[in-house]
Amino acid sequence: MHRAASLLSALAAVAVVPTIATNWGLTTKITPNTWSQNFNFYSGPDNFTNGLVVYQSEAAAKNMGIAGVVNGEYRMAVSTQAVALEGRPSVRVESKQRFGDGVYVLNVSHVPTGCSTWPAFWTTTTEENGKWPIGGEIDILENANDEFTSNLVSLHTKSDCQIPAKISGQTGSVDYTTCSVYVNNNSGCRVRMNGGSAPTWGASFNRAKGGFFAMARSFGSTGKGVRVWYWPRGSEPADLKASSKTVNPDAWGKPAAWFNIANSCRSDFGPHKIVFDITLGGDWAFNTYVSSGCAAKYGNRPITDQVAYNGTSYNKAYWSVGGVRVFATGGGTDNAASLSKKRSGVELQREA
Ligand SMILES: *[C@@H]1O[C@H](CO)[C@@H](O)[C@H](O)[C@H]1NC(C)=O
Ligand SMILES: *[C@@H]1O[C@H](CO)[C@@H](O)[C@H](O)[C@H]1NC(C)=O
Ligand SMILES: *[C@@H]1O[C@H](CO)[C@@H](O)[C@H](O)[C@H]1NC(C)=O
Ligand SMILES: *[C@@H]1O[C@H](CO)[C@@H](O)[C@H](O)[C@H]1NC(C)=O
Repeated sequence: MHRAASLLSALAAVAVVPTIATNWGLTTKITPNTWSQNFNFYSGPDNFTNGLVVYQSEAAAKNMGIAGVVNGEYRMAVSTQAVALEGRPSVRVESKQRFGDGVYVLNVSHVPTGCSTWPAFWTTTTEENGKWPIGGEIDILENANDEFTSNLVSLHTKSDCQIPAKISGQTGSVDYTTCSVYVNNNSGCRVRMNGGSAPTWGASFNRAKGGFFAMARSFGSTGKGVRVWYWPRGSEPADLKASSKTVNPDAWGKPAAWFNIANSCRSDFGPHKIVFDITLGGDWAFNTYVSSGCAAKYGNRPITDQVAYNGTSYNKAYWSVGGVRVFATGGGTDNAASLSKKRSGVELQREA
């Protein structure tokens, strides 16, 4: 009895200390039908990565049939028109809202595949007018020329941010340890997901109708850095079901990728917008067109020949997305938010 009583008083003493909630609350839910309200279509050439595409406005993309709702999912595609001499039409969308720390959940059933493609689902700084990499970049889904059989997760930073070569708290493996964009041709620090039994990229991923990716970011002394998980459709945690209002990533088990840099690189990450794009060639897929085996598949011709003259080779180059959700309230750290206030005087959407 005595022992129990002292335990109770110990618990009472703990209860007055402010506790850190690990649950994150839903702030934004983007469905295929509310895509237009939530994303801006960037139109113009790919002056970000020098790709051989021309990004289309929403109206033009819908006219061409490369953006819009198909079978209840939002599709964003590369044009399969036969000839495209001035750059092949494609889609790049950027979220209207900005987000900081939180949990970003993607429900995706098809990723863009094929030679010369370089698609990505990512979040990036909202610092405009060429100030990137201030504010950083987090690539959640990415591949180029389908060179990798599993998905790649990368961070890109302005300062010299490093991850260890071996990370026991993740199931994936480290490809590159330096996050700075000024090192190693801006490869970023990169974790390759473990192929395992459930594919995380490519034709087999698409045949299985994909599933759910979640990226949790939390910086500062109470944060856990950047973590990414993947679950094939049907095996996602219960708190990711459609009606969920809160998520608790700490209960999801080992992430596929864990960049444990919450303190060391906190000044590198500001508020981000969410981006989907598909470029062709560009700095990455151009440089690896031969080494990935793609040139050989297309008659050992330059990449420009495939882009210009082989429309049918892009018939699998599309995203098909069931939705995007962001859980950005609570969670136990607001360091990224205070950084954004210091830098630009604006509050994050989550604080509004
Ligand atoms: C790309 O071009 C557009 C339109 O000219 C411009 O607003 C934007 O800042 C440019 N982006 C980069 C990364 O240079
Ligand atoms: C960086 O890119 C250049 C030009 O694309 C290439 O020649 C060079 O080999 C690359 N360096 C590394 C370290 O990958
Ligand atoms: C065009 O692409 C298709 C599909 O990848 C391929 O089967 C065909 O051989 C390509 N044509 C040429 C001329 O490379
Ligand atoms: C995921 O997207 C599919 C459509 O691909 C939809 O049927 C399903 O309800 C979505 N699930 C959640 C949890 O949002």
